[in-house]
Amino acid sequence: MNGSLPIVRDVAALRAAAAAWRAGGKSVALVPTMGALHEGHLSLIRAAKARCERVVASLFVNPRQFAPQEDFDRYPRNEAGDAALLASAGCDLLFAPDRAAMYPDGFATSVIVANVSTPLEGEFRPHFFAGVATVVTKLLVQCSPDAAFFGEKDYQQLLVIRRLARDLDIPVEIVGCETVREPDGLAMSSRNAYLAPAQRAIAVELSLALKQAAAAIRAGRPIAETETDMRARLAAAGFDAVDYAAACDAETLAPMADLSRPGRLLVAAWIGKTRLIDNWPV
Ligand code: PAJ
Repeated sequence: MNGSLPIVRDVAALRAAAAAWRAGGKSVALVPTMGALHEGHLSLIRAAKARCERVVASLFVNPRQFAPQEDFDRYPRNEAGDAALLASAGCDLLFAPDRAAMYPDGFATSVIVANVSTPLEGEFRPHFFAGVATVVTKLLVQCSPDAAFFGEKDYQQLLVIRRLARDLDIPVEIVGCETVREPDGLAMSSRNAYLAPAQRAIAVELSLALKQAAAAIRAGRPIAETETDMRARLAAAGFDAVDYAAACDAETLAPMADLSRPGRLLVAAWIGKTRLIDNWPV
């Protein structure tokens, strides 16, 4: 049961649907996802629908953004459930290609975005942004949307995508949407499903540590010490490892120098085999 949401699986069918809408004067939005949808994804669909007349969601668990030891195989998959949620949120079309449709034999091209993709996630998941940038570039070219919607939950990813759209002259507006959180503050994520109840209780500390650190910096605590405080708080809360807990320039992701420009606090930390990320403005 998918609430009658049409699904297309090849690029030609996607192009035909989007072209027919444009010929009829309708604006088109794209919301790329890897499925296992939650309220965070659905908020993007609603924002897209408020902005454009037709909304395409894509569902593709992109193998090129997972390293061999990462969770590609166990990443949650539920296309029928996702289709029903998308339909209820106002989505008009689901593009759900298989691997061969996205990466046919002989596929050899990679989109590499320098600078903003280098620190943080780029340091700990070196393959990651090339995989994301390549697949998002393909999706933007395949769908040619007027606007494409991404969550601030993946803040560095949003900056990388803004950069590639500008650099490659892709005529699309990249729209960033606020992070949707659980009532206790935990950022919604498909990976939260991996957490056992005791781990879920630890996970909330990610957003609490960020919030506390943002307030501390605004109150004048030195930035380097605040980064150390965040790490210490996460370790004390039961996180097994902290990849980074950093205060950065909100636009360039260079280390944050002072409060003269907008900053962003970003963290990535492990609970058991689950890696969680979150970020907060300062
Ligand atoms: P995925 O993790 O499925 O996320 C799809 C989109 O939903 C991304 O733009 C992400 O930032 C947004 N999102 C996830 N959780 C959110 C939350 N709690 N609040 C608001 N938005 C949220 O990100 C990807 O997939 C992939 O890297 C993709 C861009 C699809 C390329 O493969």
